[in-house]
This record gives sequence, C-alpha cells and structure tokens, in this order.
Amino acid sequence: MRRDVHRRGRYPTTSSRDKVVFLSLIAVFGMMVLLIVGKPSSRPSPLGAPPLTVAQAADAAAGTIAAARTTPAPEKEWGGAEVVALSSGFTMPAFGYGTCCRPSARGRAVTASTLAYLKAGGKLIDTAMAYANHANIGTAIKYSGLDRAELWLTSKISPNMVKSYDECLAAVPSILDEIGTEYLDLLLIHTPKLGKDRTVDLWRCLIEARARGQARAIGVSNFNWLEVEALEAATGVLPDVNQVQLHPWTPKGWRGVVDACLRRGVAVTAYTSLGGSRFRKAGSPWGEALAGLAAAHGATPAQVLLRWARQVGGGRVAVIPGSSSDEHIRENLRCPAFELSAAELAVLEASPPPHGWFDAARGPAKYDDAAATTAWGPRK
Ligand SMILES: NC(=O)c1ccc[n+]([C@@H]2O[C@H](COP(=O)([O-])OP(=O)(O)OC[C@H]3O[C@@H](n4cnc5c(N)ncnc54)[C@H](OP(=O)(O)O)[C@@H]3O)[C@@H](O)[C@H]2O)c1
Repeated sequence: MRRDVHRRGRYPTTSSRDKVVFLSLIAVFGMMVLLIVGKPSSRPSPLGAPPLTVAQAADAAAGTIAAARTTPAPEKEWGGAEVVALSSGFTMPAFGYGTCCRPSARGRAVTASTLAYLKAGGKLIDTAMAYANHANIGTAIKYSGLDRAELWLTSKISPNMVKSYDECLAAVPSILDEIGTEYLDLLLIHTPKLGKDRTVDLWRCLIEARARGQARAIGVSNFNWLEVEALEAATGVLPDVNQVQLHPWTPKGWRGVVDACLRRGVAVTAYTSLGGSRFRKAGSPWGEALAGLAAAHGATPAQVLLRWARQVGGGRVAVIPGSSSDEHIRENLRCPAFELSAAELAVLEASPPPHGWFDAARGPAKYDDAAATTAWGPRK
C-alpha cells in the first residue's frame, strides 16, 4: 500500500481503509482515557477509609490531604474485647462510656469518672460539643497515661451551635484542641434538626473533615432511615454509625430504623440503654422481668440491658452507658457473654418498662419510618 505524506500537513494522507483504522484507534484510546479518569482509584487508603476518588488522589499527591493519610492507623484489636466492625474497615470497641446527661458529667467529676473507666480497661469515650466537657475528658486521657492510639474518641457536632458548612469546618479543629487530640475516631452530627439542606451541608463538612484526617469515621445521631438515606442521595456517602436511643422498650419505629441501618451496613450505637440518668435519679426500680433474667444468667440488671442491645443488633450495636460510680463503670465494662433465648427476649420486651423510665417525648413518633416522614417533614 502506498502512503503519501503531505509535505505541509501534519497528518499522513491515507486510503479510506487506513482512515477507518486510524479513527478506530483514536476512539479506543479516548474510551480508555474516559474509563481511567471517570473511575474512582482502587488505591486502598492507609486509614482503612473507602478508596480515594481520582480527584482526592490528585489532592493527596499535591499534599493537600497528605496529612490525613499519615494519621497513625495502628492495628486496633482492642485487647480481645468485643468490637463492632464498621463498613469503613475500622473496629470500634463495643462497650464505651457515655459522658452526658447527669450533673456529674462535667468538670472534675467527669474527669474522675472517665479516668476510672480508662483505668478499668475501657477504650471508647462518647462526648459531644453539647456536653461542654471536651477539656475535662482531655484531662482524664492525659492522667490515664494511655497512648492516643489505644483509645476511641467519639464526639458530635451540635446543630444548636453550628449551622453551616463553614461553621462546622471551623468547629472541628476546636473540638480537637479542646480534647487535646489530633483526630477523632468518630465524628457525628448530633441531630437532623437543622432541616434537610443544612444537615446535608454538615454532612459534607464531616466528609471533608475525614479527608483532612480530623476524623477517621463519620456518622449521625438521632437520624431515622429516611434522613440517613437523604445524606447518601446527596453525597453518595453513607454514615458509618447512627447513634440512637435503644433499649427493650424502644418504640417500633425506632427498631425499624435500627434494622434498616444494620441491613445497609450502618453500625448502631445505643444510648440510654440503661434507662437514662433522669429516671434513675427519680429512683426507678429495676423491672421484675429484668431482675429475673439477671438472676437466671448470673448477671446484673444493667448487664442484661447491655447484652440485650448487643444481641438484638447481631453484634453491630455498641453501648455507651454513663455512670459516676466506679462500681457501675466496672460492672458495665465486664458484662458477661451470655445469650438471651428467644423466649427471654420476648418476656423482656413485653414487660412494662420500669416506671417513668422511657422518655417517650424524645422523638420516636416523629422519626417513625412507618409514617414515611422525616425531621424535615414528609419525604418530597
Ligand atoms: N446522641 C444523643 O442524642 C444522646 C442522648 C443521650 C445520651 N447519649 C449518650 O449516651 C450515654 C448514655 O445515655 P444516658 O446517660 O442517657 O443513659 P444510661 O447510660 O442509660 O443511664 C445512665 C444512668 O444509669 C445509671 N447506671 C449506670 N450503670 C449502672 C449500673 N451498672 N447499675 C445501675 N445503674 C447504673 C447511672 O447512674 P450511676 O451514676 O449511679 O451509675 C446513670 O444514672 C450518654 O452519657 C451520652 O454519652 C447520647
């Protein structure tokens, strides 16, 4: 075949068959470029977070989020303790410590009780901007002498105090400074109460905080399933964790939320699983059914409630009981590994809640997924 080259032109003159071959090669090359650029990189993140997108990988290469990738990612098996596996690959201790909702959850008292928890072998501390005790907890960590890598720290952005993406981005380093840490293991949006658009903005902020290495895992609290789904629809990112009120007397709607989360790989942290400080203070007795089950398993009533939450969540529910008593802290941490039978679960769940124990006003009806509504109004 004769191939003439046009002296002044850039391209060779070709026969029409050669043209077809040439154009086909260009098309194949173009598709390959599109495939490579359009697809997220499969490069695994050293933090165990989802693979980086190409844009993130480029940023990382440019050094923008390189710091995030150098955050130490030690092998955390938590000394053989029970853990909850998160979809992002992290393992979170299953028996944490709650630092809210009681007079002794601030100041020196919370420093002392948090220290007691850490000395007893506990690893997960649950705090929040709204609890106003970050610095007290930081002091307890310092006194404990534990390495940061030996702990799991959860905190929450408060929509009462932080109302926009920018405010949220500014709040995250403040939280870190107050506690005296370089990163949080888990950062949550405390409630969905800001309305859909601004809640999505906060979620974008948490995604950015994770990219910057300020939080290793991110999640939400008090979100129903529709609210969780809305975040995914807007950003493509599902929370690692949803923290909700969960105990045997939790209304059906909330149980549905927990089921939906677990089915989609969103782990759950149960709060107020012992009934809450307000009602305990009022002297609520342990329920009869609960006391019977505790005796049958050689456990305490509190341990039955903690085990209940772990069991109904198929091991993907963590608990964070709060206590100011050293004895209770140890008891909650050393919960024996018994299993409640189906009949025992039914007895417990059908028993009336100990008097005044459940805070029915805390939104379950509002969040009831069966009613297909959200904290932002009906689904549009
Ligand atoms: N995300 C949210 O919106 C949200 C809402 C509420 C709570 N939380 C988190 O969840 C944590 C726990 O929830 P909570 O504080 O509401 O309720 P909780 O842990 O169910 O109950 C705490 C109460 O139970 C008592 N208690 C603890 N261990 C006990 C034991 N072994 N035997 C008998 N009584 C025991 C404590 O009294 P003593 O001091 O006498 O032991 C305290 O009065 C909070 O601290 C907070 O971190 C999150």
